[in-house]
Amino acid sequence: MYHFEGKPTDRIEAYQLLLAQAKALIEGENDFIANCANISSLLNLFLEKINWVGFYINRNQQLVLGPFQGQPACVRIPFDRGVCGKAASTKTIQRIDNVHLFPGHIVCDSASNSELVIPLVKNDAVIGVLDIDSPVFSRFDTTDITWLSKIVDLLTESYTD
Ligand code: SME
Repeated sequence: MYHFEGKPTDRIEAYQLLLAQAKALIEGENDFIANCANISSLLNLFLEKINWVGFYINRNQQLVLGPFQGQPACVRIPFDRGVCGKAASTKTIQRIDNVHLFPGHIVCDSASNSELVIPLVKNDAVIGVLDIDSPVFSRFDTTDITWLSKIVDLLTESYTD
């Protein structure tokens, strides 16, 4: 387990190491589900103060639960519902500091108070989303977004239809 409490440079070094580990796991493997499974495990070990991390996969314009770590979650999310649906339908990152204030937020784990959803987009098509929940309000900042986006990029690069 890595720690985020140190100086910002320590945190960036930790993220650099995480990215190297993610590259090593994905390199040479193009099975998207297997790669998502390993990345959800890696992120669960790496990220502090989270209670859920995983993927929803786009199946005919509906998000279907993919590999994850955490409590059992809702299986299907339409593109017009929840934080995940908004990320998928708008192809934009959703950082929600307080999920209770987000209209239409879908509660999967009542411990969640903040959430980060990063869409996986390849050739303008949404492959799915990375969803991370935290019990801490405003858990995610721009450093998290920068580095987690790099990991999402590795996954989209490895994706083949
Ligand atoms: N909160 C999400 C649903 C997925 S769970 O958090 C795992 C949403 O509103 O889309």
